[in-house]
Amino acid sequence: MLRRPVLMLAAIAAPLLLPIVQNSGTLQQERGTQEHSEEHEEEGPLEQAMSRLKGGTRALRAMMARQDAAGCLSIVSDMQAAVIQAKGEIPETAEAKSEEERPAFVTDYRRTMLTLLTNLIDLERSFLDGDFEAAQAIYDERVRPMEREGHDKFKGGGGERGERSPRGERGEGGR
Ligand code: HEM
Repeated sequence: MLRRPVLMLAAIAAPLLLPIVQNSGTLQQERGTQEHSEEHEEEGPLEQAMSRLKGGTRALRAMMARQDAAGCLSIVSDMQAAVIQAKGEIPETAEAKSEEERPAFVTDYRRTMLTLLTNLIDLERSFLDGDFEAAQAIYDERVRPMEREGHDKFKGGGGERGERSPRGERGEGGR
């Protein structure tokens, strides 16, 4: 008998409490999404791709010195993926171009990225051949200089950011 008022109370309270419970879940989800996007707010897709590329160059140099073909193949593949990611983006510097200049600028950017990709494919081929001498030449003459060249032309801020290194190592383009 005593149970009845309790049951009635629960029946009345449940629909009232439900939206609060649901809302707190939504709020938590929203907060989570917000925190997640804040974490990645600083790096856009092109910056992410470039950081990945930079990490690749560092790892690759160490791996080439050890003549570890399997390691080199894995890193060079990751660098190619980073370039594929980057070539679909439009550099911020395109915004400062006039409507007339912009299409040619963006095409030039994409062509330069394709050249880098081609060079990385040639680099991969030399690893498959086990030819580390050829690989080193491709890296030194056709991959590494592209950082400086690409940044001088397409990166804002005078090309400094890409060359700067948080750990004080010498950047790829800082010759
Ligand atoms: C091996 C070659 C390259 C390396 C290692 C490299 C590395 C980097 C790094 C570390 C950054 C700074 C990312 C950041 O701010 O967190 C950057 C930015 C940038 N790079 Fe490269 N890069 C290379 C080649 C290129 C090429 C060939 C181009 C153009 C075709 C290019 C275009 C840019 C642009 C436009 C930015 C500015 C991105 C932004 O802040 O939105 N890079 N790169």
